[in-house]
Amino acid sequence: MPEELRYDGQTVVVTGAGGGLGKAYATFFGARGANVVVNDLGGGFKGDGSGSAKAADTVVDEIKKAGGNAVPNYDSVENGDKIIETAIKAFGRIDVLINNAGILRDISFKNMKDEDWDLIMKVHVFGAYKCAHAAWPHFKKQKYGRIINTASAAGLFGSFGQTNYSAAKLGLVGFTETLAKEGVKYNIICNVIAPIAASRMTATVMPPDVLENLKPEWVVPLVATLVHKNNTRETGSIFEVGGGHVAKLRWERAKGACLKADESMNPGAILARWDEVVNYKEPQYPSGPAEFMDLLEQANQMPTNKQGEDVNLKGKVVVI
Ligand code: NAI
Repeated sequence: MPEELRYDGQTVVVTGAGGGLGKAYATFFGARGANVVVNDLGGGFKGDGSGSAKAADTVVDEIKKAGGNAVPNYDSVENGDKIIETAIKAFGRIDVLINNAGILRDISFKNMKDEDWDLIMKVHVFGAYKCAHAAWPHFKKQKYGRIINTASAAGLFGSFGQTNYSAAKLGLVGFTETLAKEGVKYNIICNVIAPIAASRMTATVMPPDVLENLKPEWVVPLVATLVHKNNTRETGSIFEVGGGHVAKLRWERAKGACLKADESMNPGAILARWDEVVNYKEPQYPSGPAEFMDLLEQANQMPTNKQGEDVNLKGKVVVI
């Protein structure tokens, strides 16, 4: 048998760990030697108060019964500093933060209310920020930290009725990419996952036979690998994971067109080069804004732009 990944002596904080994916992470780390903070405020999946209170207690009991070490925390992730405080008080340190807590407020865009938008931003984006911000000084001081943020296919690709959730989830991608850049010199590794798993969140939108093949436990191994001390390289990355499939995603930029930035740079000039703007035959895989500066430099050196027809967009600009 190959050796198993262990987390002995480390403290792992899992937010929203009273059920679904969070519970699967918490019980896994509890069984692999970590001290676990099981956070959950025990609400309903729409962020209301209809869930079971003290969902965290049940998971803590389960971990302890199996011989592990865990404490509950019932704060909302909006008060992330209190969650991290629980870790420090109980175990004296924090090593891993899994920002997992989440809710849905699905509604067509036309019918969306400000409170639907705000609540989703608060729980997903502000909540992840608050937890990471409170953990960061500890990570920096000990020159060690691991963060997982939780995005969604809805954020990466869009999903009907989820403008609020999609915006929040893609926000977490940018958040992770920047955290990874800021953390690299302190050995703080940050990655983001877009999971798919059976939970109360997906129970109403997917048929039972599909859900059967989407056990939360099948998302856990990727997260376990990314937050392990042996992962010293994979950071700032986006992964899709679920139902046995695991894949990394990246941004792709068309080779594009470099145009002279002068008075000849008008719609006609862009339309004359449209095929290059949208052509992915020679793609680039940018990883930072600095790379864009080279392209600006190239554009500057171009001769004055040729003009194309700029009145008839039909057949040029793609309408989906
Ligand atoms: P779930 O509803 O089973 O679990 C979410 C947990 O977060 C719940 O136990 C809930 O009480 C807790 N929670 C909600 N608001 C909280 C707050 N303010 N503070 C603390 N805890 C809070 O959902 P599931 O499916 O396990 O989702 C986990 C994460 O994965 C979420 O961020 C979700 O958006 C994301 N996700 C899940 C997908 C799936 O297929 N299940 C797909 C894409 C993303």
